[in-house]
Amino acid sequence: MDRILFCSFSLALCLIWVSPKIAGVSCSSIADQEKDRIFSLPGQPPNVGFSQYSGYVTVDHLAGRALFYWLAEAPTHRASTSPLVLWLNGGPGCSSVAYGASEELGPFRIHPDGATLFLNPYAWNSAANLLFLESPAGVGFSYSNTSSDLHNSGDQRTGHYVPQLSQIVYRRNKGIQNPIINFKGFMVGNAVTDDFHDYVGTFEYWWTHGLISDSTYHKLRTTCDFQLSMHPSDECEKILDVADSEQGNIDPYSIYTRPCNDTSSLRRNLRGHFVSS
Ligand SMILES: *[C@@H]1O[C@H](CO)[C@@H](O)[C@H](O)[C@H]1NC(C)=O
Ligand SMILES: *[C@@H]1O[C@H](CO)[C@@H](O)[C@H](O)[C@H]1NC(C)=O
Repeated sequence: MDRILFCSFSLALCLIWVSPKIAGVSCSSIADQEKDRIFSLPGQPPNVGFSQYSGYVTVDHLAGRALFYWLAEAPTHRASTSPLVLWLNGGPGCSSVAYGASEELGPFRIHPDGATLFLNPYAWNSAANLLFLESPAGVGFSYSNTSSDLHNSGDQRTGHYVPQLSQIVYRRNKGIQNPIINFKGFMVGNAVTDDFHDYVGTFEYWWTHGLISDSTYHKLRTTCDFQLSMHPSDECEKILDVADSEQGNIDPYSIYTRPCNDTSSLRRNLRGHFVSS
C-alpha cells in the first residue's frame, strides 16, 4: 500500500513536438503500427473518435529488455498535426498506465464496477497525442529477461530522467535543421530532484495554496530547508506535524476535490519521499 501511495509523488512528463515529417516511416513500421492498433478496450465506449495503439518495443535485444507503451492519439482529424506528449510516471516503480493514463490525464476513467470505462472529460489527448511509457524495465508491463538489468535501472526517478532525457534531445538537436524530434520543452511535477529544492517546492506549494499559515511556512523554511529529507531533525519533524494538522482532512494530491474517507495514510505520505514508511 505504501508503495502505491508513494507512487503519486513523482509524476512527471516530457513534452515533445514531433514534426509532421516523422510520418515518413517505412512500410514495415506501418505494418508494425497496425499490429499494435487497439480496436476497442474491454468495456470501452464506442466511437471515441481517436486511435489507440499499444505494445512492446524491444530496446535491448541482448538483455531481452522491452518497454510497454500505450499511445492515445488526438482526435483523428488533427492527430497528425498535434504535438506528441511523452508521459512518464515516477516513483521509482510507478506505472504510467496505472497512474497517468488511468487516473489522471488518459482518455478513459474506470467505472467503480472495475469492468467498464468512460471518457475522461479532462483527457489531454483532446489536445495532443499522448504516449504513456512504462519505464524503466520492471515497471508495469515493461520487463527484462535479465535480472541484473532490473537491479541497475530500478532506482531512477523522473525528477532526474525527464530533465536528462530532455537534455539529450536538446543537445543532439543543436545545429540540426528540422530535427526529427522537434523538441518544445518538458514539465516535471512533484518530482524528486534534491532535498533542498524538494523541500522548498513543497513548502511553497502548501503556503501559496493557503494550506498552512504564514508562521508555519516561515518556520518550515528556517527549520527544514537544509535538512536531509530521509532524516529530518526533531525540530523539523515537529513543524512538519504542525503543517500536517493545519492542512486538515484533504486529499493532498487533489486539494480542490473531496477527500477519500480515510486520507490519514495519504497525508502521512505527503511529505513525499521524506517519509516513505
Ligand atoms: C523474453 O523471454 C521470453 C521467453 O523466452 C521471450 O518470449 C521474449 O521474446 C523475450 N523478450 C525479449 C525482449 O527478448
Ligand atoms: C464515506 O463516508 C460517508 C459518510 O460517513 C459514507 O456515507 C460513505 O459510505 C463512505 N464511503 C466509503 C467508500 O466508505
